[in-house]
Amino acid sequence: MSNPVWTFGVLLLPGYQLLDMAGPVDYLQIHSREFTPMIPDATPDILNTAPIIKWHFIAEDLNPVSASSGPPLTPTDTFETAPKLDYLIVPGPDPYQVLPEATIKFVQKVFNEPSFRGLLTVCSGSMVIAQTGVLDGYKVCSNKVCLKDAAKKGLINHNVTWLADKRWYQDGKVWSASGVTAGIDLAAGFLATKLSEKAQKLAQDAAEYYPNPSFPDRFARILEGVKLN
Ligand SMILES: *[C@@H]1O[C@H](CO)[C@@H](O)[C@H](O)[C@H]1NC(C)=O
Repeated sequence: MSNPVWTFGVLLLPGYQLLDMAGPVDYLQIHSREFTPMIPDATPDILNTAPIIKWHFIAEDLNPVSASSGPPLTPTDTFETAPKLDYLIVPGPDPYQVLPEATIKFVQKVFNEPSFRGLLTVCSGSMVIAQTGVLDGYKVCSNKVCLKDAAKKGLINHNVTWLADKRWYQDGKVWSASGVTAGIDLAAGFLATKLSEKAQKLAQDAAEYYPNPSFPDRFARILEGVKLN
C-alpha cells in the first residue's frame, strides 16, 4: 500500500466565493494523509492509502486576493511559479468577470498538459472559465441562478453544453458543480472514484455530512423551461 500524491491548484480569481473554495478544499483535505491521523477511528489501511495532497493557491501575483467574504488570502504561487498540476479547482467569482490574458493562458496551459488529470469548477467558476475555450464541447454544470440570468441576457457561451438538472457532473477531465454548496458534493463524487467506501464513510462521519448525488437535483426547478443550449 502506498499513499498517492495529488498536486492540487486552486485558482484565486478576484471576488471568488469563499465557500466555493473552502467547501471542496476542506472536504478533500479531510481525506488526506495529513488530516486522517486526527480522526480517532482511522485504521492503518485508511492511513496507508490516504492521498498526500499538495495544495497551491494560485493567482497572477502574490498580492492577497479578497473573496466575497472573509479575510484576504495570500496566494502561495503565481502563474509562473506553480508546479505541474494534477488537478485545478476554480471557485466562482462574478459570472461575467472578464479574465485577463495571463489567466486565460495559464488555464489553457494547465488544461492541455498531458499529465493534467482534472479541472474542478464550482458555481460560476465554469461560466468564467468558458472564456478560455477549455470547456468547449464538454457537458458542464454552473450556478443555476447565474445560468438563468445569462440566458435571459443572451450571454450564454454556446460552445459549452450546459446542464440544467444536475447537482454536479463529470465529463472526462472536466468536473463541474452547480451553485456554491454543490462544490462539496462534487468533491465527494470525485473522491468516490478514488478512495474506498470505508475511507469515504470515515470522512463523512468526521464532517457529519451526507453528500448529495449528481442526480436528482432539487434545484433543477430553477432552470425548468430555460433555453440553455
Ligand atoms: C466558440 O468557438 C469558436 C470556434 O473555436 C470561437 O470562434 C468562438 O469565439 C467561441 N465562442 C465563445 C463565446 O467563446
